[in-house]
Amino acid sequence: MSGSVDLVKKGQLAYLYLNNPEKKNAISAEMWEQLAARAAEVSADQDVRATVLRGYGTSAFAAGADISQFESRRSASSRGSNYDDLTESAIAAVKAIPVPVIALVHGFCLGGAVSLALACDLRFASHDASFAIPAARLGISYPTPAIGRLVAQIGASNAKYLLFSAKRIDAQSAKEMHLIDKIFRQEELDLQTDKFVDLLIENAPLSLKAAKYIIDQNVIEESKRDIDKIHSAARSCFESEDYKEGVRAFMESRKPAFQGK
Ligand code: COA
Repeated sequence: MSGSVDLVKKGQLAYLYLNNPEKKNAISAEMWEQLAARAAEVSADQDVRATVLRGYGTSAFAAGADISQFESRRSASSRGSNYDDLTESAIAAVKAIPVPVIALVHGFCLGGAVSLALACDLRFASHDASFAIPAARLGISYPTPAIGRLVAQIGASNAKYLLFSAKRIDAQSAKEMHLIDKIFRQEELDLQTDKFVDLLIENAPLSLKAAKYIIDQNVIEESKRDIDKIHSAARSCFESEDYKEGVRAFMESRKPAFQGK
């Protein structure tokens, strides 16, 4: 069994499940491929207003890439980089989802799963979640773009701490180094995440998309930013029906009904 990545829609919310519970949701090559495809489906679905990426069950978000495939698929350096292309394509597809994406982390979040969680906009974890990047226990190099994103998120010394030690850290330490954003009790995590995404779904979709796009552009090198697209993302809000609706609803003291137009 090489596991699967499942897309489940609940109203305007899309759930992406890493589904390989016998292996703590370790992500096989087939799953990285499926993740890229499912994420592209989410991006193309105009109804979706928010996405939650999680592991199946509560024992793991994912225990990293499926190590049992490394000898056949990640051995020599060229094949190693092919494997990293596969993981990077999936991560790029998740990053390209235009609506907010929340990583919901129960249990283990290890290796490539940390990189995947960082591709999401926010990370909510259970109090008993644990995080590690055990590349140095396997004798591999964590993919260069993944190291870049890690450093951008948690800083060079925290990244060195994780990569040098390969040590597992708890949710509180992960929050202190800004690897995750919120911690909830294990039994509360699903409910609190649902409550948060319900809030997002009520907000103006174009405002959320513009905020995501503009923030993401701000964390990349200035020379690589698409200034025209940044302006048009902001302009699309001011030119929208939803802007009129938002102001009208405020004046009429009622909840706005946004259409994403
Ligand atoms: N790849 C392949 N199989 C994995 C896996 C991975 N990344 N992580 C866990 N599994 C498998 C185990 O081999 C085991 O299989 P088995 O039942 O056939 O023996 C099963 O999942 C359950 O794992 P187990 O180790 O028995 O559970 P545990 O609770 O004692 O420990 C982990 C869980 C996640 C701490 C431990 O499995 C582990 O360290 N996994 C490797 C993590 C890693 O190095 N990830 C980085 C990859 S780049």
